[in-house]
Amino acid sequence: MRIGILSDIHANLEALEATLADMGGAGVERVVCLGDVVGYNTDPSPCIRLLREAGAVCVAGNHDRAVTRQIPTDGFSVRAIRAIAWTRKRLPPEDVAWLSALPLKTNVGDQLVAVHGALHVDRGCELVRLNSEDRMRRTAQALLAHPSGARVCAYGHTHRLGIHEYRNGELWEHDPDSEVALRGGSCYLLNPGTVGEPRSEERRATWMLFDTGRRTVSVRRVAYDDRAAFEKTRRAGIEPRRLLAIPAPVRAALQGGLRRMGIYEMVRRVINS
Ligand SMILES: [Fe+2]
Repeated sequence: MRIGILSDIHANLEALEATLADMGGAGVERVVCLGDVVGYNTDPSPCIRLLREAGAVCVAGNHDRAVTRQIPTDGFSVRAIRAIAWTRKRLPPEDVAWLSALPLKTNVGDQLVAVHGALHVDRGCELVRLNSEDRMRRTAQALLAHPSGARVCAYGHTHRLGIHEYRNGELWEHDPDSEVALRGGSCYLLNPGTVGEPRSEERRATWMLFDTGRRTVSVRRVAYDDRAAFEKTRRAGIEPRRLLAIPAPVRAALQGGLRRMGIYEMVRRVINS
């Protein structure tokens, strides 16, 4: 089976449409969404509709659970809270019900375990970022102990692409630009990055193709009309004007520079406050 894994759509309809079209072209038979369907952008309901039409298997992200008031917004950025409030006012009851019913973790055909944040955590798993080797090891060990027998865990939340292999207690990262052949005896942690809320130099939507027959994983990148999507967000008053005033390539270069200096998160918080 060809499984298309996507995450962190964040109500960006243009990005999701382009991604699902690319999945169709790639022969995807099952769509798996790792949560954060809503938040940050302005098309939560059309995105939910598209996922439902695609028959996607979906887990809940922290933004989904905050919009539905299943968790508080403590620890969310000011911009995220603004978008959550905006979304709550506009989401019809049937979409709230759909989001509210999403599980935190799910098993896809004993081939793949899906979670938004981290597998090794029970309560609050949608909030934990797998951004350290220690946490990745713990999630890999939880995967090894998972009753499904699956050897692949797909997660999102960090908005950062990554393919990690865990074997004999060792963890290492694969080049996301090359197709990865999955080895028996290893387990894998896959992060498809983000469809609709880029936080790196990569402005395209990204997703992963997991071919369970061939036992391969590859990354796909999809260009879309991001100006249209983010202009709607700006008009809604969610996105700070000062960030969007900077052309996208300059903004990406600036973000890369701040990241290398180790001050990106601090500057981002100031801008978004
Ligand atoms: Fe997210």
